[in-house]
Amino acid sequence: MNPQTHWERIYTEKPPDAVSWYRPHLEKSLSLIEQFAPEKSAAIIDVGGGESTLVDDLLARGYENVTVLDISQAAINVSRKRLGAASERVSWLVADITKFELGISEYDVWHDRAVFHFLTAESDRAAYVRQVTRYVRRGGHVIVSTFGPDGPLKCSGLDVVRYTAKSLHSEFGGQFQLLESAKELHETPFGTVQQFLYCHCRVE
Ligand SMILES: C[S@@+](CC[C@H](N)C(=O)[O-])C[C@H]1O[C@@H](n2cnc3c(N)ncnc32)[C@H](O)[C@@H]1O
Repeated sequence: MNPQTHWERIYTEKPPDAVSWYRPHLEKSLSLIEQFAPEKSAAIIDVGGGESTLVDDLLARGYENVTVLDISQAAINVSRKRLGAASERVSWLVADITKFELGISEYDVWHDRAVFHFLTAESDRAAYVRQVTRYVRRGGHVIVSTFGPDGPLKCSGLDVVRYTAKSLHSEFGGQFQLLESAKELHETPFGTVQQFLYCHCRVE
């Protein structure tokens, strides 16, 4: 099954709070964005944003230039509907992040929670990193969260790659300065705990 079909099926069959990655709010992501991109005009892209409420929280804090990209139209539809009229203030993109042409945009913040770790093929990871290099301005911030070294081996029935801060940073390379990394224990809606790793880099 190709990834788009997989994700469309997941989001068509399951309500937002019935997937393992669900959190009512992405507190860690939000706090990093607010700390490193306090200007409300900052161009922020949430890559593989799915149905997450990060976009709601960014709008509520006054951010004016938010893009949400996801491979699933169904997920984007749910987020747009949840936001109602406020959804008009967001740029929505349905696309595969490893392939998509984003036009001339330059982002101040690239946020990804639980997307990069699904790229099990080296060529897809390289394509993803090329996209980051292409679309994030120099001095911009890249916040990527994957499963940590003790995290699950699969998510949503798909294999994942688990990372340490060192191994994740080495996927990105020397053009990215690792500013901070932290582990987060995420409690799933089913009461299990998953180890996530957050890495925050600045593009040199
Ligand atoms: C585990 S979910 C995480 C969703 C959201 N970031 C969150 O934390 O709630 C992974 C998301 O990545 C999206 N996705 C997977 N592969 C993708 C790709 N190649 N390009 C864009 N989005 C992708 C899926 O549709 C899904 O919404």
